[in-house]
Amino acid sequence: MAFPIDPDDMNPQQAKTELARLAREIARHDKAYHLQDAPKISDAAYDALRQRNTQIETRFPDLVRADSPSNKIGSKPANKFGKITHKVAMLSLSNVFTDQDVTDFVARVRRFLSLGEADELQITAEPKIDGLSAGIRYESGKLVQAATRGDGQTGEDITANIRTLIDVPKTLSGTGWPDVLEVRGEVYLRHVDFDQMNQKQVAADKEPYKNPRNAAAGSLRQLDASITASRPLRFFAYAWGDVSAPFASSQFKAIEQLSEWGFSTNPLTQVCANAAEMIAVYRDIEQQRSSLGYDIDGVVYKVNRLDLQGRLGFVSRSPRWATAHKFPPEQASTILENIDIQVGRTGALTPVAKLAPVTVGGVVVSNASLHNEDELARKDVRIGDRVLIQRAGDVIPQVVRVLDADRANRADPFQFPKICPCPLQTPTSREVDEKGEIGAITRCTGGAACPFQQVETLKHFVSRNAFDIEGLGARQIETFFAEGTIREPADIFALHQRIDRVELAKKDGWGKTSIANLFGAIEQRRQIGLDRLLFALGIRHIGQTNARLLAYHFGSWDALAQAMASDAINEELLSIDGIGQAASDALIQYLREPHSAAVVARLLDQIKVTDMVKADNDSPVSGKIVVFTGKLEQLSRDEAKAGANALGAKVSGSVSAKTDILVAGPGAGSKLKKATELGVQVLSEQEWLRLIGKA
Ligand code: IVH
Repeated sequence: MAFPIDPDDMNPQQAKTELARLAREIARHDKAYHLQDAPKISDAAYDALRQRNTQIETRFPDLVRADSPSNKIGSKPANKFGKITHKVAMLSLSNVFTDQDVTDFVARVRRFLSLGEADELQITAEPKIDGLSAGIRYESGKLVQAATRGDGQTGEDITANIRTLIDVPKTLSGTGWPDVLEVRGEVYLRHVDFDQMNQKQVAADKEPYKNPRNAAAGSLRQLDASITASRPLRFFAYAWGDVSAPFASSQFKAIEQLSEWGFSTNPLTQVCANAAEMIAVYRDIEQQRSSLGYDIDGVVYKVNRLDLQGRLGFVSRSPRWATAHKFPPEQASTILENIDIQVGRTGALTPVAKLAPVTVGGVVVSNASLHNEDELARKDVRIGDRVLIQRAGDVIPQVVRVLDADRANRADPFQFPKICPCPLQTPTSREVDEKGEIGAITRCTGGAACPFQQVETLKHFVSRNAFDIEGLGARQIETFFAEGTIREPADIFALHQRIDRVELAKKDGWGKTSIANLFGAIEQRRQIGLDRLLFALGIRHIGQTNARLLAYHFGSWDALAQAMASDAINEELLSIDGIGQAASDALIQYLREPHSAAVVARLLDQIKVTDMVKADNDSPVSGKIVVFTGKLEQLSRDEAKAGANALGAKVSGSVSAKTDILVAGPGAGSKLKKATELGVQVLSEQEWLRLIGKA
């Protein structure tokens, strides 16, 4: 392509004008290419534009624009589906497995609500559909938006695809719907439709889908909604998210109402009066499982009254008012061909069974977990054995037991390695806890220096609930790590300086588009919430729940860093309800240990950590430290704590000078005395309820 003036002949004014023009033009082409999938110029012409931009910038470094195309690689979102932030988080369900668990669930709910023996508690039971959840938003009765669950906070915009589903109304029928109504439910495929779809796949020389769920996922994720339209996806409505006004008083009535407005709802839904009835419905649904014509993987129980659901609230990422009763795992037998030792992110050595491939519950399995050294020894699994394996849902399949232990010529018992298979070849060790007991986990003693641990830490860092960098999965991390391109998290954000795009484009699996997408995805994550960052670092004992607790407690990275410098940091961490000694120790050690502290510092040079927004800033107790003591009469202790947390208060177990409010019921003793001495505000339960607007 010919350009008017050669950069070498330009004066600063001409350079400035030309850089502005190039920034605009390149941005326009980026958009056409990435967001509209419709490039307007050839790759070569596009490269020439960028090259010219770089040439001018090299000659006039002072004139580099803030929005220079050299800083922005690829266009904005790398992923083709837009993101949608859920107004109401889309959570998951806790699980129960046995009849006893069901009884315990009911007892827990009753206790939380302080129900007496004579008080009734209705619970609904319905099939747990094995598909993908979606939230569909209606405004004034019209379908306006639909999103996948994603990580529960943010999902993908699948509006166009959802519109093609036959049992999703585009306009609500009947009357009385709230102005805003977000209906939630499961997208799934019936068995007949799945079989037909796979026949078509095979006829078109394409790989058949493994199971209806995968096929549904593949169909829903089509960029071209006309492809989704050709796939017979279905939808069962079973819940709701954002609504402008309540529209029912119970779960059962709400579902009936959704059915009147035009949704398919599950006909097996029933109301139960106690655990025995719930278990009976579970057995009944289990009996019908194979003849339903669609996959289900359990039964979901939900407290029927919506006011009680509201009081029960949530714990971590699932509601207290619901749980899933899972069907027992599916089993199969096969030959164990070998035992591999894998080194995890924290150095844990996990034995993995390499199996002769076998189909279990519709999925081909060739690896299964053997958990740890002791489990392996207890099961006495040896190479060549026939083993029983099982898988439940998406969890890793497990080896249950050896089936032919009494046969002749069995191999010798497996010797668990005393030396880690990692390149450092360090001796392995078993942890000893504070009571002097030997822990179950065998670890590599290489610590942060162990390359196996480094690479696993990086995989965790980019994973879905952490930085969630699309296009940078386990495989790519392994390759970049092996080449030395990415050694620690900060390197990901400096990747544009660390690799040669032209060289990368020559490699298998990489093309111009995927490279541009990768850089786009990385750029998108340069801003990250404190909770995700804390989780992503992969600190022991800091899983998603603890990361969130810490993030909400400190609010910002700076506040956390400042607290870390204080001598009282352990006490402060332990004062956070839910954070225990192990997590506190691990966090302090990680952030104070020079190597990991340096890794974090280098990362922070590359990214911007966004502060946490308090749950409810308007509440008079938001940000306050509250302690409950004595007997509470209207709320159970759990309910009181949960309610305070939901309003942004921090509930602590002990009174100190930092305590803002002590809520004291009858029988309060030493805590009340201490609070009075320290001049802490003391409230009765009734006064507390009034303060938070619940009385
Ligand atoms: S209720 C607040 N009901 O199970 C929880 N979920 O493990 C709202 N699912 O993400 C979910 N059938 O995708 C509910 N009848 C049912 C369900 C169901 C399937 C899925 C859903 C959810 C997952 C939770």
